[in-house]
Amino acid sequence: MNDFSVSSASPSNIAIVKYWGKHGNQLPNNPSISFTLSRCHTETQIHIKQNANENYSMRFLFEGKESPKFQEKIEKYLIDNQQYFSFLKGLDLEVESRNTFPHSSGIASSAASMSALVLCLLKIEKAVNHDVTPLDMRKASFLSRLASGSAARSVFPVMALWGVTPSVPDSSDEYAVPLADMVHPVFKTYHDSILIVSNKEKSVSSRVGHSLMNGHPLAEQRYATARQNTERLLKVLKNGDLTEFMTIAEAEALQLHEMMATSNPPYKLMEPNTMKIIESVRAFRHETNIPACFTLDAGPNVHLLYPEAYEKQVGDFINESLLQYCHDNQCIDDIVQNMKR
Ligand code: PMV
Repeated sequence: MNDFSVSSASPSNIAIVKYWGKHGNQLPNNPSISFTLSRCHTETQIHIKQNANENYSMRFLFEGKESPKFQEKIEKYLIDNQQYFSFLKGLDLEVESRNTFPHSSGIASSAASMSALVLCLLKIEKAVNHDVTPLDMRKASFLSRLASGSAARSVFPVMALWGVTPSVPDSSDEYAVPLADMVHPVFKTYHDSILIVSNKEKSVSSRVGHSLMNGHPLAEQRYATARQNTERLLKVLKNGDLTEFMTIAEAEALQLHEMMATSNPPYKLMEPNTMKIIESVRAFRHETNIPACFTLDAGPNVHLLYPEAYEKQVGDFINESLLQYCHDNQCIDDIVQNMKR
């Protein structure tokens, strides 16, 4: 076999119903639904050479530089899940990865980076086996989940559901399923303007956050609410009821942060400017009737969600009223990914 290269790009995603709390091997305690983004993505390329022994080797470069932290994370992933990667035996891999979003935006990139890596690995498997059939996206989602839970949802365009949900018969805790075919056209036009309140690394990682849900006094109520919100949101995604969409999105965001505030030990990732933006968004909606709402990840940055039709008005609102609360006036305007791979 000659030397060859594979490449893949995969985006970040923003959950509307949040995954928070897990068990076993990266299995979610409740279902979640997200928008798949397009501009914030990771591009990964792997150069493959054959070696003369039975093992594989892997060297990881992030934006052209060695990164021991990522190298270690990927090595651990490949060892922990070696039953899926036997095709790597006898190969030397040089992995090069870069993000399209700014280094210091504080945007978590594991969903994008781990799903891009998995897509590349599956392309290697196909090349090694001379298999020309299309990539199995369910398998890509399954393997991405094992690397970083929410990465399971990033491999599908538009929107994805991850976690067993009674009204979606093929839903699973093991992989995400695409929702693109059932969503109302308005959701395919959604923008996510990410208002960067802080670019600092979070004081409490998502890994620790998930683990604090074990034994959390409100955990069972939270999981029940998330299950209900998943079913409610699935209806909204079909009928295009934007008022109900905004109610669910904002309640989910605030409940995620409430879980943090009431865990043991309690902690807070929102900042004063997060609240100022939230209040401004609500006032803007009240005054204009424009269906713009917020959601939050596990961090202080605010994701402002709105249909494309309001791009101009919301853009003016961001410039005039919200950038003052952002670190270095930073806002990343992303949109839902509509392209199929
Ligand atoms: O995939 P993780 O382990 O980084 O957890 C993601 C958790 C949230 O972003 C807060 C919610 C979600 O569903 O993406």
